[in-house]
Amino acid sequence: MAALPLEGHDDYAKVAQLVQPVHMPRSDAPPNPMKRIDPFMFGSRYLEEGDDVFAYNAWDHVEADPEYLAYAEVQYERQRDAPVSDFDKKRFNADPVKWWNLFYKNNESNFFKNRKWLQQEFPVLAEVTKPEAGRKVVLEVGAGAGNSAFPILANNENPLLKVHACDYSKKAVEVMRASEHYDEKFMSADVWDVTGEGENALPPGLEEGSVDVVVMVFIFSALAPEEWERAVANIHRVLKPGGLVLFRDYGRGDLAQVRFKKGRWMDDNFYARGDGTRVYFFDKNQLRHIWGKWSLEHGIPEFNAAAAGDDDAAVAGEQQREEDQQEQKTTIPVAAGFDVLNISIDRRLIVNRREKLKMYRCWMQARFVKRITGADSSSPSSLETSATATPTSETEVPN
Ligand SMILES: C[S@@+](CC[C@H](N)C(=O)[O-])C[C@H]1O[C@@H](n2cnc3c(N)ncnc32)[C@H](O)[C@@H]1O
Repeated sequence: MAALPLEGHDDYAKVAQLVQPVHMPRSDAPPNPMKRIDPFMFGSRYLEEGDDVFAYNAWDHVEADPEYLAYAEVQYERQRDAPVSDFDKKRFNADPVKWWNLFYKNNESNFFKNRKWLQQEFPVLAEVTKPEAGRKVVLEVGAGAGNSAFPILANNENPLLKVHACDYSKKAVEVMRASEHYDEKFMSADVWDVTGEGENALPPGLEEGSVDVVVMVFIFSALAPEEWERAVANIHRVLKPGGLVLFRDYGRGDLAQVRFKKGRWMDDNFYARGDGTRVYFFDKNQLRHIWGKWSLEHGIPEFNAAAAGDDDAAVAGEQQREEDQQEQKTTIPVAAGFDVLNISIDRRLIVNRREKLKMYRCWMQARFVKRITGADSSSPSSLETSATATPTSETEVPN
C-alpha cells in the first residue's frame, strides 16, 4: 500500500477505499466450505491469497495492515492536538445521562438489533435458558433498548428465568417497557446507574449476591475511566460467587476511534461523539488489569501500560484462552474479586461493496467470573464456567 497518501488524509471514506488489507497465505487444508455455503457459519471466513475482497461483506480475523496502523497513529496525534473544548468536556461529563436520554429520544425507532450471535458467543446464555436450568437471574447493565435482553428472552425455555435489564437512561427504560416483547413475568426493565453509591449501589429489586450472569455489551465504554472502579465493585456485589460477567465492547483501533475528527478527544482513547455521548476504546492488557486486579480492599491498582507490554498480537481461540488462564494463575493477587476466563480481540474487515470501502473493526470480548471465597455468605452460582466459544462474528455491526 505504498501509494496510500496517509499524511493529510482527513476523509475516512477515501482511506477506506485505498486501504489494502493483507491476504493470508492460502492454507493447504481442503477449501473451507463454510466460506462458500449458505447459511454462512460465522467466524471462519478468512481473507486468503487470491480472494476478491469484494466477494463478501465481511472477513474474519483480519489484522490491520502496517500502513493503516501508521495512519491511525497520525490520526490519534491529530485528535489529541485538537481536543474537545473545556466547555463541552464539562457538559458531557457533568451529566452524561442527559446525552443518552437525548439519544433515545432522537433515535426512537432506530435501535433494534437482532443479536443472533449472543448465544453463539456466550454459550452460558443457552445454558440458563434451557427448560430444566432452574431459577436463574440475568442482569443486563446499560441495556439500552434491550438489544441483548430481548433476544435472550426470545430463546428462553426456562420458566424460572428472570432477566433484569437496567439502564440509567429513563428514556431507554421507557423504550424497553413499551416493547411488544416486554413480558413482566420474565423481564424487569429498570433505571439504574451502574456507578451508583450507598443505597443505589444495587439495581432495583436485586439483592447482594443474587445474580448468575451479568451482560455488559457496549456499556463499559460509555463510562469515564474514573467510574470503572465503582462499576466493577457494584457488579461484584450483585453477582453470586461463581457468577459470570459477559463482556463485549470497543477495541483500540476500531474504525470508530480512528475516524474521530477534531474537537472530540477528551483523554487517551476517550472521546465525545457528536451527540454528546462518550466512548472509550479498550485494549486487552488494560481490560485484564481492570477486571483481574480489582479487589474490594484496593479497587483497581494503577495501570502501567508499558509494564503490561504490547497486546496487539491478537491470537484468537483456544491457545489464547489457555494463555489467559495460565497468566491469571501466576499474576492475579489472591484478594482479586474476579478471575479472567478469557479476553479475545475480535477483528473484522467490513466491506461496503457498493462504495468499495474496506473498514477495520475491532471489538473486545471477555468473560469474568466472581471468585468464590471462604467468606461468601451467598450461595454460589451453579453455572458451567468452562463453556467457551471462540471469538466469531456477528450479523450486525455495532458502531
Ligand atoms: C452504546 S449503548 C449500548 C446499549 C446496549 N447495551 C446495546 O448494546 O445496544 C450504552 C448504554 O449504556 C447506558 N449507560 C451509560 N452509562 C451508564 C451507567 N453509568 N449506568 C447504566 N447505564 C449506563 C446508556 O444509557 C446506553 O443505553
